[in-house]
Amino acid sequence: MPNHSIPLFIKRFFVTPAVIGTIAPTSTSTARKMAAPIPPNATVLEIGAGTGSMTQGILERLDNPSQLTSVEIDPELAKEFRVNFPNVTLNVGDAEEVMRTTSNLDAIVSGIPFAVMDAQKRTRMFQAVARAIKPDGLFIPIQYGLTLRRELEQHFSDVRIGFSFWNIPPTFFYICRKPKTTSSNNR
Ligand SMILES: C[S@@+](CC[C@H](N)C(=O)[O-])C[C@H]1O[C@@H](n2cnc3c(N)ncnc32)[C@H](O)[C@@H]1O
Repeated sequence: MPNHSIPLFIKRFFVTPAVIGTIAPTSTSTARKMAAPIPPNATVLEIGAGTGSMTQGILERLDNPSQLTSVEIDPELAKEFRVNFPNVTLNVGDAEEVMRTTSNLDAIVSGIPFAVMDAQKRTRMFQAVARAIKPDGLFIPIQYGLTLRRELEQHFSDVRIGFSFWNIPPTFFYICRKPKTTSSNNR
């Protein structure tokens, strides 16, 4: 994400802290680590894209930008995202709604602050993720703590933890595979 987007990100954090979740955008180093398991030919959905601090890391993994679609709920951050990444398709709205009408994804990468989200909403979001990805697909959410591990294990059979020191603050992220609820067995 270009440095000129950082003041807007911080401003939006003070307007809706529970939606934005953190004062500093994800570092490029963290974004690259999170995107590392994504295969080059993957079809990817990025949820909670903000102004695009994870987007470049994802694009570096992919053969073509057309393989990535991003979603952001905050209209001001979405406007800035479009300036930063004019070649990436962006949906402005709730990622839960977008995932409900999406299937067969190879990966979903998330910047959404699930830990501060209402628990019922979070469950619906994890169910929507599990249905939107392929049985061998990936779900890679950033999380600043490890409190959601058990919850993620209710939705995915294989949940691993990654860590990035070069981030403000240093952060964990999850690499989830093998969704327990798929589009083929529970729609
Ligand atoms: C912690 S920021 C992450 C932004 C950027 N991806 C990054 O890593 O720096 C969380 C982002 O998720 C967005 N968000 C929160 N809930 C959302 C939802 N239900 N659907 C789509 N975006 C959402 C917020 O507006 C915010 O831009």
